[in-house]
Amino acid sequence: MRFDDVFAMVGRTPSVRVDAPDGDAGGAEIYAKLEGYNPTGSIKDRACVALIRDKLDRGELRPDSCLLDASSGNMACALAYFGRLLGYRTHLFSNSKLTDDKRSFIEYFDATLELEGSFTIEGNRACRRMAESEPGRYCFTDQLHNWANPQAHYETTGPEILETFPDVAMVVGSLGSGGSMYGVGKYMKERRPQTRVVVVESASGTKLPGTGAFVDGDYRTPFIEAGFAEEIFDDTVRIHLHEAQAATERLKSVGVFAGFQTGGVYHATRVAVERHEVRGPVVFLSGDSGWKNLAALRAAAEGAA
Ligand SMILES: Cc1ncc(COP(=O)(O)O)c(C=O)c1O
Repeated sequence: MRFDDVFAMVGRTPSVRVDAPDGDAGGAEIYAKLEGYNPTGSIKDRACVALIRDKLDRGELRPDSCLLDASSGNMACALAYFGRLLGYRTHLFSNSKLTDDKRSFIEYFDATLELEGSFTIEGNRACRRMAESEPGRYCFTDQLHNWANPQAHYETTGPEILETFPDVAMVVGSLGSGGSMYGVGKYMKERRPQTRVVVVESASGTKLPGTGAFVDGDYRTPFIEAGFAEEIFDDTVRIHLHEAQAATERLKSVGVFAGFQTGGVYHATRVAVERHEVRGPVVFLSGDSGWKNLAALRAAAEGAA
């Protein structure tokens, strides 16, 4: 594969089968779509590039603008990286969920960082206040409300899944901003309505990257509200940390190096396969790889030892 620049390397991620060859998932064939293969190692690269393009198209991103957004980590990494590449300053808000590795990544790519509260919506509000207090200085990409976010997945992630799996029976993914599952789900409902769309949330008290605990007050973005209101999401599975951890171990045993978000979505996929007696190809979104979660993986392993 040959690329002219790293923008061309966003998307077209590989999918690998993870259920045992003896058919331990009933009649389903479960594949992980590995979004860790994107340039900054997560699914958020797709939305990040789309948000920047949207702001350029609207004339809201000028050469002297400072990019601004709030994220629990992966979007912040993507904005630091793509922002720097394009020559913009980048200021980010994150929160108590930010891992040391993601903080190092953000700082390595020269973005400035502030921590605000425990939820991304708190940083999002801080961004809005900042942008309003100095009009023209910041370009607030607003991943939680900008429809360029789900549109990126409608235009790329959804089509990639259907191209690779023309008979896909079910797609599963977690809800952070909801951009990925709204975009993928909408595409599926238009092109292959019989494909079941299942979303994953954290159960109360569970903190997992990219997997909102809406029961505990995580913010439901307009994309998440629309996904339910428009009946794009067919079912929801809520997961606990111990289930995500056990499923992450299971993935490790088949050579998929992933963090607990991926494990949680894999667990939810197995629950949904059984609940709906699904047969045929099932694809779940692995939002990033183990590299971005190594400290948490090691801490859990040491705690269990
Ligand atoms: C690892 C990971 N997976 C999934 C998601 C969820 O993506 P979305 O914001 O599109 O709902 C995120 C979002 O932060 C993430 O970091």
